[in-house]
Amino acid sequence: MKRRPLIAGNWKMNGSSAFAVSLAKELAAEPAGAAEVLICPPFPYLPAVVAAVQGSHVRVGGQNAWHEPPGAFTGEVSMDMLVDVGCKAVILGHSERRHILNENDALINSKVRAARAAGLQAILCVGELLEERDAGTTNAVLDTQMTGGLAGVDAALLDGIVIAYEPVWAIGTGRTASPAQAQEAHAHLRNWLRTRYNPAAADGMRILYGGSVKADNALELLQQPDVDGALVGGASLKAASFLPIIRAGNQAAK
Ligand code: 13P
Repeated sequence: MKRRPLIAGNWKMNGSSAFAVSLAKELAAEPAGAAEVLICPPFPYLPAVVAAVQGSHVRVGGQNAWHEPPGAFTGEVSMDMLVDVGCKAVILGHSERRHILNENDALINSKVRAARAAGLQAILCVGELLEERDAGTTNAVLDTQMTGGLAGVDAALLDGIVIAYEPVWAIGTGRTASPAQAQEAHAHLRNWLRTRYNPAAADGMRILYGGSVKADNALELLQQPDVDGALVGGASLKAASFLPIIRAGNQAAK
């Protein structure tokens, strides 16, 4: 089954209003291709970025959100607020939130379900630490994160969910997983989906790779049979490095 590639840029805590609008405009000016394009700027810049890409193929998402309805949650942003400002998606369970902000699978699961209830596409990130890979527990770690993250999520809700495999040792380190390592983990995740749900759900799920994706390694990664897109950090902060990755996605779609 052919899945439409998704190339997503996670800007993390970077930029300024001027930077955000200028980068968003550069990306929106590129003609639409076969791959879907999503950018996830910091919260304060969302409305300006949504306005900058309006009418283009570029969609905008949040990098996180809180699962409760609006109320007394100082410092948090609700799923509905993301929808309200024009977001179509939200990244959840990113390794920086798991390991720096101590988010656990139960919280991430609440967020996944709240995102779907709000009509947002949920990008659920999973991935092992270097010591877990070295200890040979990668698959077990991924299974735990998938089981926890998707608890109570039935097959009907999977349509609006994307999985991102981001090995923690490859994030921001310049140490990309080899195409074979990425393919192996993606195949494992798809197999998990086949067992937990059904073959159609597994075949339809997009599984993105994230971790030091750059213009020069993107195509080979995206050409792996179970790699359906990329979640890009550092290289998504410049049109000159992100556009070639989008083009690689367009090419891999053929
Ligand atoms: P880098 O592309 O900077 O390694 O970051 C990957 C990532 O964490 C995307 O969410």
